[in-house]
Amino acid sequence: MAQPTSKTPQVKSSWPKPVIEAYQKAKIARENAHAPYSRFKVGAAIKFQGSRRVFAGCNVENSSFGGTNCAEQTALFSGIAELGASPIEYIVIVTSQTPPAPPCGICRQALAEFASDDTPVFLADLKGIKERILLGELLPKAFRNFKV
Ligand code: THU
Repeated sequence: MAQPTSKTPQVKSSWPKPVIEAYQKAKIARENAHAPYSRFKVGAAIKFQGSRRVFAGCNVENSSFGGTNCAEQTALFSGIAELGASPIEYIVIVTSQTPPAPPCGICRQALAEFASDDTPVFLADLKGIKERILLGELLPKAFRNFKV
């Protein structure tokens, strides 16, 4: 069987074109990351249902480390600020890490507020999207509703 070589395209053409475009937006946003403490730049892009727009975000660190904002939440809050609370269609997350880094626990919970278990999360490195996983796989039994 033919083995992949270094010439094997790393950006799969099998991903839908709008998802690849969202990946490119996330990758550009990643360049704007303010990460002087961790040096770990993250980019994200979110497509919401009912809007054609894609909202990008990057991590914005703070010298008081707890004040840091993750890329996923930057994109999420930017979209909500412009569109109002809306369901997420999908999110793309880009880091320089291979295999790509999944979102942190706090981001999973933040996304769950506006996404369902079936919402696709595309994980990417600098060469392209490497994995499609569902939010429900990343965060099973999400805490969404509470009764008082
Ligand atoms: N980071 C994100 O932006 N998203 C995640 O899901 C994981 C972590 C950022 C926060 C911090 O600026 C850096 O990555 C290292 O943790």
